[in-house]
Amino acid sequence: MTNRALTQLHAIEWLPLSSPQLTPSLLDWLMEEDSMTRRFERHCEKVTVEILREGFIGAEEAGADALLLPEEPRYWLREILLCGDGEAWLAARTILPESTLQGPEQKLQQLGSQPLGRYLFASSTLSRDFIEPGRSHDLWGRRSLLRLSGKPLLLTELFLPPAPLYHAVQAERKK
Ligand code: PHB
Repeated sequence: MTNRALTQLHAIEWLPLSSPQLTPSLLDWLMEEDSMTRRFERHCEKVTVEILREGFIGAEEAGADALLLPEEPRYWLREILLCGDGEAWLAARTILPESTLQGPEQKLQQLGSQPLGRYLFASSTLSRDFIEPGRSHDLWGRRSLLRLSGKPLLLTELFLPPAPLYHAVQAERKK
């Protein structure tokens, strides 16, 4: 399940915002500008993070993601599952060039099971270049290029089948 989620995350195909596949309820979830952790908290008692992998990787392993980031020898990678009441709702991969970790942003390396969003959205220096929706077979996802004090990080998220986004999509179909 875990590996499958990451494989599907890697297979997301990006869509233009004008894509007719993107219904209003999908856009409402995928273009959420606030923290997804906070949004999930409206749908469960407790949101938790399960860390799958954290550490430095080389540009080669960073693959296509590195093309959206400045070219550097090393990138910090964090892959997690975000769970609502113990059920995996979202797989997320954060990748940032090592230089983003300079200064206060070195805390990004020490998040542990604290959700990234809590750190990001508490920062007054957060800005966003873009959010792009995408799909991986029957699952929806998105990627965001964010900046802390101007320093970039790329966050890719895939909504797993139990995520509340799919309830909203189902309800929309029945209308
Ligand atoms: C993370 O902790 O890495 C994280 C948390 C929530 C997200 C994405 C990433 O929506």
